[in-house]
Amino acid sequence: MSTDPLLQPYKLKHLTLRNRIMITSHEPAYPEDGMPKDRYRLYHVERAKAGVALTMTAGSAAVSRDSPPVFNNILAYKDEVVPWMKKLTDECHEHGAAVMIQLTHLGRRTRWDKGDWLPVVAPSHSRAAAHRAFPKQIEDWDISRIIRDFADAAERMQAAGVDGIELETYGHLLDQFISPLTNTLEAPYGGPELDNRMRMLMEVVQGMRQRVGNEFIIGIRYTVDEDLPGGVDKAEGIEIGRRLKASGLVDFQNIIRGHIDTDPGLTDVIPIQGMKNSPYLDLAGEVRAATDFPTFHAAKIPDVATARYAIAAGKVDMVGMTRAHMTDPHIVRKIMARQEDTIRPCVGANYCLDRIYQGGAAFCIHNAATGREETMPHDIAPASQRRKVVIVGAGPAGMEAARVAGARGHDVVVFEAAENPGGQIRLTAQSPRRHEMISIIDWRMAQCESMGVAFRFGTWAEEETIIAEKPDVVIIATGGLPHTEVLSTGNDLVVSSWDIISGDVKPGSNVLVFDDAGDHAGLQAAEVIAATGAHVEIMTPDRSFAPEVMAMNLVPYMRSLQKLDTTFTVTYRLDSVRRDGNGLIATVGSDYGGVSQERHVDQVVINHGTIPLDELYFALKPQSTNLGAVDYERLIDGQPQLDVANPDGTFALYRIGDAVAARNTHAAIYDALRLVKDI
Ligand SMILES: Cc1cc2nc3c(=O)[nH]c(=O)nc-3n(C[C@H](O)[C@H](O)[C@H](O)COP(=O)(O)O)c2cc1C
Ligand code: SF4
Repeated sequence: MSTDPLLQPYKLKHLTLRNRIMITSHEPAYPEDGMPKDRYRLYHVERAKAGVALTMTAGSAAVSRDSPPVFNNILAYKDEVVPWMKKLTDECHEHGAAVMIQLTHLGRRTRWDKGDWLPVVAPSHSRAAAHRAFPKQIEDWDISRIIRDFADAAERMQAAGVDGIELETYGHLLDQFISPLTNTLEAPYGGPELDNRMRMLMEVVQGMRQRVGNEFIIGIRYTVDEDLPGGVDKAEGIEIGRRLKASGLVDFQNIIRGHIDTDPGLTDVIPIQGMKNSPYLDLAGEVRAATDFPTFHAAKIPDVATARYAIAAGKVDMVGMTRAHMTDPHIVRKIMARQEDTIRPCVGANYCLDRIYQGGAAFCIHNAATGREETMPHDIAPASQRRKVVIVGAGPAGMEAARVAGARGHDVVVFEAAENPGGQIRLTAQSPRRHEMISIIDWRMAQCESMGVAFRFGTWAEEETIIAEKPDVVIIATGGLPHTEVLSTGNDLVVSSWDIISGDVKPGSNVLVFDDAGDHAGLQAAEVIAATGAHVEIMTPDRSFAPEVMAMNLVPYMRSLQKLDTTFTVTYRLDSVRRDGNGLIATVGSDYGGVSQERHVDQVVINHGTIPLDELYFALKPQSTNLGAVDYERLIDGQPQLDVANPDGTFALYRIGDAVAARNTHAAIYDALRLVKDI
């Protein structure tokens, strides 16, 4: 029997959880027609198989029709959810994991133009900035209807066989009642008395209890400190916990700190890379001690050592490692096998979460199999035939290709012109705030070394270098170079965002950053320049700046840039640049027409993505069996490529990542995984 605190079972009422590691509720936006179908199920089953004790499914599964699915939530108000949830639950149970589901009414945290176009409802007219909807103030008939909806949904989930339910009570309807900031009702559901503000929550729990009985597990995930003047503070938060426990109706608490009505608020609740690890663990411990109540908690506990400490020190009863499990679903298995050092690290990039707020599905920036369990493997199967695989480039695409080819058992050699692996990620990681990104490369390097992949750093691979290796397969992952030739005149007078980030070019003192790629590099360069005390204007022809950076990732940039001498200009386009003595004159127009302005600056920085470095690919193409072609149908179906176009060729040739076209880290890694898993 292991003595590892993380591997000790935990008894919650009648339910024995096999260890202390859980996945907290998170909506990855995988439902189809609002239902947790195959994709959703396989995502959870993968983690159940690998040993997680409890998976809290859904995020914010909607109990009412006027809680429309703003990020493709599960529709718990439909009866057809029962068989889907049952299938998911049964399969997770077969692998020993407990399954619960988070239910909610989103209140004002949604939009009226989704779902059935019903008005958004809340205990006041005040809107949540992040979702923009002005709510209707809730009426008595709404209250009784919604209490009934919660009870109906609880009954459905019990019928599906789940082990319990959690109520989302931070930033959603139930908590909008509790917070004085979002409740302008009078008694009995509003006013200064906490009991009145908690009344809606307690009536919901009572309504659910009447349907599901006293044995069924019900917990509350609530904010113990909204971190807003006039909101719920820690003293009141602890009092809420005490009252929940005293009610005898609630079985566990899941501790949150903060508020989620704005992007910065949400980012503090779910911290991203560069922010402190486990920032609220002590608070969770304090609440646990003050309430003597089973306590769950998650907030950037990405590593096993901190999770172990959280349990050993009695801070929590169950520790959430949610994004950590998106990155590596096999954490528990690896802990049990004493292979913690092989866990793929969550780097806090928050690509997963930011995507769902843009209407996409949650994908992990560096595990392309997550959310694609139907087609992509987390464990790579060995190949039936060992082949010589030559990879050119050790950026994210090349490193993933090397890792997967190594795991297939191939004889792999990687050529890289630089002295170190990493490519563009090495540039990204120059920002102290984004330094965690380098783990994407370090983890792959360690994996490759353990599998005997050979690296030739500082080597510029030419056609002959490759041919001399007698390869069966050549993969070109050479990435790209900054593309700055976008002006009508003056292209020779500008520098690239990479020039600034790498330190190759000294920042000017009055700088125009023209960013129509809208990705991290533009803002990163602006930050480097502004940090020297320079004035920076960040200009884009788009309607909003840095759209590829997305909501939560923008927060740390704004917290930095707004304190520096920066301005943001949207809907203007840099047309040309010319010299003016020691300085430059930038001519600015607009896609909307009829505008011509001038800026006097001493430096112009362009961020316009990359141009593929593809000479080697085109040189090798005629000698390859497939003439560089990829059969997309077979690629998508997970079938090996056939490579038959040129019978005189001696190797198959493929191109992945930015060597094809400027995209992002996830795209590069997905390119590599889905191609190489079948080589
Ligand atoms: C894609 C995604 C969706 C999420 N959706 C929800 C949600 O619907 N309800 C909820 O309570 N928390 C949600 N969360 C927050 C997680 O439960 C968790 O609190 C957060 O990720 C911090 O824990 P971690 O650092 O272990 O990932 C979501 C997180 C992610 C990554
Ligand atoms: S995208 Fe980033 S934060 Fe999200 S799971 Fe992957 S590594 Fe972690």
